[in-house]
Amino acid sequence: MFRLDGQVAIVTGGANGIGVGICEVFTKAGATVACWDIADGQAVADRIAANGGTIFYQKVNVTSKESVETAVAEIMDKHGRIDILINNAGIIRDKSFMKMTEDQWDSVMTVNVKSLFVTSKAVLPHMIAAQYGRIVSASSINAMNGAYGQTNYSASKAAIQGFTRSLCREVGKHGITVNCVAPGYIKSAMTESIPAEVVAGAIKQIPVRRIGLPEDMGYAYLYLSSKEAGFVNGITLHANGGIYPI
Ligand SMILES: NC(=O)c1ccc[n+]([C@@H]2O[C@H](COP(=O)([O-])OP(=O)(O)OC[C@H]3O[C@@H](n4cnc5c(N)ncnc54)[C@H](O)[C@@H]3O)[C@@H](O)[C@H]2O)c1
Repeated sequence: MFRLDGQVAIVTGGANGIGVGICEVFTKAGATVACWDIADGQAVADRIAANGGTIFYQKVNVTSKESVETAVAEIMDKHGRIDILINNAGIIRDKSFMKMTEDQWDSVMTVNVKSLFVTSKAVLPHMIAAQYGRIVSASSINAMNGAYGQTNYSASKAAIQGFTRSLCREVGKHGITVNCVAPGYIKSAMTESIPAEVVAGAIKQIPVRRIGLPEDMGYAYLYLSSKEAGFVNGITLHANGGIYPI
């Protein structure tokens, strides 16, 4: 397993779903994790800490410069470093395009895309000073595939890939890599509400014949966050059991 001993990692959207999987895997790998979420993540942090992980929860709205800068300042005061930023927080506001409201469009773009501007701006000065860093962001299989009712979401997840490919060209000279993970069909609160027969049908389409787990995504993020992945830059890691590319 790749190790992150002595490193400090921020995981946005760490209180639920895939974010919890990332927090668990990163703490097992030896990182100190700052679990950021607008929702309450104290119980998740307490559970992981009780199992031996080093983790603390900070209530952070990733769309707010003030909220993000305050949390970054607290981490720097206490730990003196930020090695890894995982931009995992994201939302859906699905509606077929002709019914989609401007608010549904704007909120998805703000949480999923503007947040990368806010969080990356806040951590990069510290990564540049250290001449080391890893930024890994959540894209989606639907950035490539598209999905009915997800013009806003698919556009936002494709934008994340463009952001990644451009930022990696600017900061690579400082020892900082910028990559994305594009999860496929992953078990989460969202997928729990889908009827069992629909899930079974979806699984038949996935070459590994199962849906992904938050922990599977944790290991994909871990690889791109490792020192050993230092020559991997600007990519999208497709973590979907083989359903795409076919
Ligand atoms: N679950 C999947 O199948 C799947 C597939 C492809 C991509 N993704 C992407 O992976 C990421 C995680 O997905 P998930 O299924 O775990 O979602 P989730 O809804 O379970 O968790 C997302 C977390 O982000 C937090 N969040 C939302 N807005 C925020 C804000 N403004 N500031 C801080 N935190 C905020 C939420 O409170 C929540 O805890 C998302 O970016 C999602 O788009 C998920």
